[in-house]
Amino acid sequence: MFAISLGDGAELRPLEPWQAEEFLAHMDRGREYIGRYVGLPDAAADLDSARSWLQSYADKAAADTGRLYGIWLDGLLVGGVLFRVFNASAGTCEAGCWLEPAAAGRGLVTRATRVIIDWAVRERGMHRVEWHVSSQNTPSINVAKRLGMSRDGVLREDFLYRGVRQDTEIWSVLAPEWRSLPAGGAGTS
Ligand SMILES: CC(C)(COP(=O)(O)OP(=O)(O)OC[C@H]1O[C@@H](n2cnc3c(N)ncnc32)[C@H](O)[C@@H]1OP(=O)(O)O)[C@@H](O)C(=O)NCCC(=O)NCCS
Repeated sequence: MFAISLGDGAELRPLEPWQAEEFLAHMDRGREYIGRYVGLPDAAADLDSARSWLQSYADKAAADTGRLYGIWLDGLLVGGVLFRVFNASAGTCEAGCWLEPAAAGRGLVTRATRVIIDWAVRERGMHRVEWHVSSQNTPSINVAKRLGMSRDGVLREDFLYRGVRQDTEIWSVLAPEWRSLPAGGAGTS
């Protein structure tokens, strides 16, 4: 399997439809924690929907409109990073992430997201990488800060989730900013 080491026994690998059972088991371990602000657990409620969600990203990858990668820690799938939106002609994309709770607090998502942003900026010529996050989601906002992103603004009450309207903050990093970060954005913690 193609894999990029994230250190400390963690690896970043493609996450594909054939891994639906493994993905569902991971989602079941983290369903409540992952679903506090994002609907991913609802999109992967059972084996069929988990496989469909993975297939939707396989389709995006084939069309070059999105990407999905899993994070494995000591051989166990514990989370992932993705490009929900990837518009190569416009030079813009939106990254996202999740972890099951046992894998949080180790810097895995920060390191994994650096890998995919670096690829998007350096190999794919992306100019702007966005991060959309609920204003209540402090851990994810902290990831955006660690990545060197700036807060562009807030979409007030734009996201209705589980009966509550959330504010969505938009964070971003531009290619020249990314390249000027220590180690080109790839080496800081
Ligand atoms: C968002 C989410 C992935 C953040 O998880 P996280 O573990 O805090 O993020 P990281 O993997 O980057 O780890 C950072 C933490 O590890 C610590 N850490 C340890 N070693 C580290 C290292 N080498 N590099 C960076 N951070 C490190 C950091 O200090 C930080 O902990 P702190 O917040 O207590 O200070 C997690 O909260 C989550 O899955 N939430 C549910 C899904 C979700 O909301 N996704 C985001 C949608 S926008």
